[in-house]
Amino acid sequence: MKAFATLALAGLTTLATANPISPSRTHIQTRQDNSTSTAPCAQVSQYMYGDGTSVVKQEIPAELAWNCIKAVPFNATSGKRLIRAIRPYIDWQSTLSQLKNPPADYADKVQPPIDIIGGLDKIDSDIDSGRFQNEYDFGWTLYTLIQSAHDGHFAYIPDSVGGIFTWARRVPLVSVSEDGTQLPAVFVFADVLGMQFKNISYTPSPVVEIDGKKATDFLENLSQLGSLQDRDALYNNLFYELAQVSLGASGSVTGMFTGGGRGRFVYPGASTTLKFANGSEYTMQNYARTSISFRNVSTGEDLATKWFSWGREADEVQNQSKQLNTEIPKTISTAASTAISAAVPPGYPAPIIAGPQNLINGFYIDAPGYEDVAVLQVPNFVGSTSAEIPFQRVTQDFIPRALADGKTKLIIDLQANGGGTILQGYDMFKQLFPDLDPYGANRFRAIEAVDLIGQSFSAYASQFERESTTNSTILQAQASYFDYHYDMTVDAKPFSSWEEKFGPQEVNGDKYTTLNRWNLSDVHITYSSGGINITGYGPLANVTGPPKFNPENIVLLTDGYCASTCTIFSELMTKQAGVKTIAMGGRSNKNRIQAIGGVKGVNNYQFGYIQQLAQYAIRYTPSLNSSILKRDYYSDLPFNRASGAPGVNTRDGLAQNDTSGVALQFVYEEADCRLFYTPEMTVDITAVWKTAADAQWGNSGKCVSGYSQKRNAHKTTTKLSPRRVHISQAQVQGFEDSFALQTQCKMTGDGFMHP
Ligand SMILES: *[C@@H]1O[C@H](CO)[C@@H](O)[C@H](O)[C@H]1NC(C)=O
Ligand SMILES: *[C@@H]1O[C@H](CO)[C@@H](O)[C@H](O)[C@H]1NC(C)=O
Ligand SMILES: *[C@@H]1O[C@H](CO)[C@@H](O)[C@H](O)[C@H]1NC(C)=O
Ligand SMILES: *[C@@H]1O[C@H](CO)[C@@H](O)[C@H](O)[C@H]1NC(C)=O
Ligand SMILES: *[C@@H]1O[C@H](CO)[C@@H](O)[C@H](O)[C@H]1NC(C)=O
Ligand SMILES: *[C@@H]1O[C@H](CO)[C@@H](O)[C@H](O)[C@H]1NC(C)=O
Ligand SMILES: *[C@@H]1O[C@H](CO)[C@@H](O)[C@H](O)[C@H]1NC(C)=O
Ligand SMILES: *[C@@H]1O[C@H](CO)[C@@H](O)[C@H](O)[C@H]1NC(C)=O
Ligand SMILES: *[C@@H]1O[C@H](CO)[C@@H](O)[C@H](O)[C@H]1NC(C)=O
Ligand SMILES: *[C@@H]1O[C@H](CO)[C@@H](O)[C@H](O)[C@H]1NC(C)=O
Ligand SMILES: *[C@@H]1O[C@H](CO)[C@@H](O)[C@H](O)[C@H]1NC(C)=O
Ligand SMILES: *[C@@H]1O[C@H](CO)[C@@H](O)[C@H](O)[C@H]1NC(C)=O
Repeated sequence: MKAFATLALAGLTTLATANPISPSRTHIQTRQDNSTSTAPCAQVSQYMYGDGTSVVKQEIPAELAWNCIKAVPFNATSGKRLIRAIRPYIDWQSTLSQLKNPPADYADKVQPPIDIIGGLDKIDSDIDSGRFQNEYDFGWTLYTLIQSAHDGHFAYIPDSVGGIFTWARRVPLVSVSEDGTQLPAVFVFADVLGMQFKNISYTPSPVVEIDGKKATDFLENLSQLGSLQDRDALYNNLFYELAQVSLGASGSVTGMFTGGGRGRFVYPGASTTLKFANGSEYTMQNYARTSISFRNVSTGEDLATKWFSWGREADEVQNQSKQLNTEIPKTISTAASTAISAAVPPGYPAPIIAGPQNLINGFYIDAPGYEDVAVLQVPNFVGSTSAEIPFQRVTQDFIPRALADGKTKLIIDLQANGGGTILQGYDMFKQLFPDLDPYGANRFRAIEAVDLIGQSFSAYASQFERESTTNSTILQAQASYFDYHYDMTVDAKPFSSWEEKFGPQEVNGDKYTTLNRWNLSDVHITYSSGGINITGYGPLANVTGPPKFNPENIVLLTDGYCASTCTIFSELMTKQAGVKTIAMGGRSNKNRIQAIGGVKGVNNYQFGYIQQLAQYAIRYTPSLNSSILKRDYYSDLPFNRASGAPGVNTRDGLAQNDTSGVALQFVYEEADCRLFYTPEMTVDITAVWKTAADAQWGNSGKCVSGYSQKRNAHKTTTKLSPRRVHISQAQVQGFEDSFALQTQCKMTGDGFMHP
């Protein structure tokens, strides 16, 4: 079993098992004239094991690993088959035609158009014309095609890109403004840390060049290989940030520059040279990590034999009998399940109410002048079943407690929030605004597979009473979008048939299903909510009344990294309740920026879930055995050739009262206020909260100049003045320990939600 070919979604593993590959072939003639002992992969093996048999080093010089991965010959047959096998899944991506032809505002300010289907066609013809030099060239081309959609729900990470090596740099950076007014400059984080916690003897100087390029150009360029769509959010994601670090291995740890998040897939070169404004230079050696065995691997062919699953004819046999899994797909993903174990992450005070795995915490600000401010820090919307109920409970407990303690203002700190359980977003909104009716319309692309699955599920589900049941076969059908009873129309009416729900409606040159909304009163809703009862509905229908905090006394604080469920929550909070936003950081300019920079699609499906839907549809309706569902969704090649669990965004979100038909993903919206990070904010989260509270409720309007004309010229931070925070050696140690954190198995993309 390949270490990396595991599916994150519980219950789907049997549909996507990798074929164990026999490591019996021994030596294959190398393609290079190199002898096996000096061939690139032999050097990796030698480096890892020395002359012994146990691993001595798991971190390999980047260049050694690079030469090895580039030595895997391209398997054109498998490549062709892979492209063919993933197309049916990619058809589910809700934004395909909008990506190709986005609104002008999006193309100007966010990302350029991208033709995904055209890109797949091009890869196909490039295979035919022999363009790919090696397997990695092919893998990287496929990876970057999908990544260029800048949709955190849409990812295909080929084996050669994510399954063998990942990459890293050792020196985390930050982008800070000395006083919150001057333009931010890039500093080595250790300098900023040293400046404040230790007695360093030099004055930190900003990084002005990286590998001979202007630092900000280099970094903006690198940031474009991230998963978010917004460029300021992408820029923030390069750096060390307390909220990301608080998520442990499930966040982007010390930043994309150091190989956190999507940075781990980007080869950083053998070394990286930083040049500082004071003239000095520093060169770091970059490294690769691997979690697979390189024993007896000498050549690229050896590596392929042992660790690549090229697929066999048998993978495409249409009628192989499959063991269908009867477990109900959970509303979760594993992305958030490996949070940092430390009780209090570096830079955070002790919470008033602590939630599970640091995914949610309630704080007060222990400083004069902030006695009336409470902070609900929500860097995630939960990805593991065990955390769902405790997560909901934190808000349930914290809000009344804060009110009882005299707090009249609430900061909801969403920094680093990549999403989680959809209905936790609705629930939190309802806890804060019990009398508002959350809108949340969505649509699928109206493709044939969706129609066939819907016909089958709806017909099967309709045979049974809609009532509480433990029969998982019935639940599987009834607690699903594909049973037309499970959602409601935009006017909160039931759909009368699958045909009505499917449509299709032609909008801006593509066909979509009829807009629908969640029926939060549905009898099966807890199967989609991760087990929580949703505030305001069902057993909690008795929770009603005016808001606990008036909208002007709440502010959403983001770093642009607000994706998936976080964007659903933010949409409800800002559009329906009128709550304002503050966006932190961004590129080194004084322009207005967006607060919500991550995927605004409202549901992702892993390929494995789509495969399961197709196979269930055939099981419910055997005549579909001769349909495209059988033809297109039985190959396991897409799973065997992927690192992690590939996925697509299946549902577009649409704004309330929208008449344009443009999905929220393509709507550009500026934050109500922008603040720069200062040095203190990179080591003390309360510095962020205080500045946000001042900007929102204080007398001194502190938003950067795009928002008020009070600020003067575009002066850039050139040095940091000493400013020490009193803090223990143990706390300094906490920061230093965080440098060793590595992004692990973020298998569901960088925005995630289920079902
Ligand atoms: C040996 O392999 C290295 C790395 O792939 C390559 O640069 C070098 O040219 C090869 N040597 C010969 C003699 O082919
Ligand atoms: C290439 O992949 C095909 C399956 O698609 C497989 O049959 C073949 O053995 C592979 N070639 C090599 C050299 O491994
Ligand atoms: C900082 O270091 C200098 C020289 O090493 C020393 O003279 C000074 O007392 C130190 N200051 C503090 C606050 O430790
Ligand atoms: C120049 O700045 C860098 C980065 O802050 C620092 O490491 C170095 O010691 C400084 N050099 C001098 C001579 O001050
Ligand atoms: C940006 O990236 C492109 C390719 O991705 C490269 O050609 C270009 O030189 C890069 N520019 C900078 C400033 O790093
Ligand atoms: C590596 O090769 C040696 C000698 O051919 C063999 O004894 C050993 O079992 C192999 N180890 C692995 C892990 O395949
Ligand atoms: C699969 O199809 C082949 C021929 O098309 C047939 O001989 C075989 O019995 C079928 N297997 C199953 C499990 O249906
Ligand atoms: C679930 O219900 C279906 C349809 O009535 C029935 O065929 C199946 O046996 C039931 N499964 C269980 C485990 O009771
Ligand atoms: C929502 O679900 C409840 C409970 O199953 C049902 O009574 C109600 O009619 C549904 N609402 C709509 C609009 O379908
Ligand atoms: C949801 O409500 C039901 C019915 O009142 C109750 O049995 C169940 O314990 C509740 N679940 C949670 C997680 O509170
Ligand atoms: C609502 O009902 C639940 C039981 O279903 C109860 O635990 C809760 O206290 C009630 N809440 C209010 C505000 O009445
Ligand atoms: C949509 O229109 C309705 C009716 O005019 C209004 O009450 C509601 O606030 C509007 N929603 C938004 C998000 O503007």
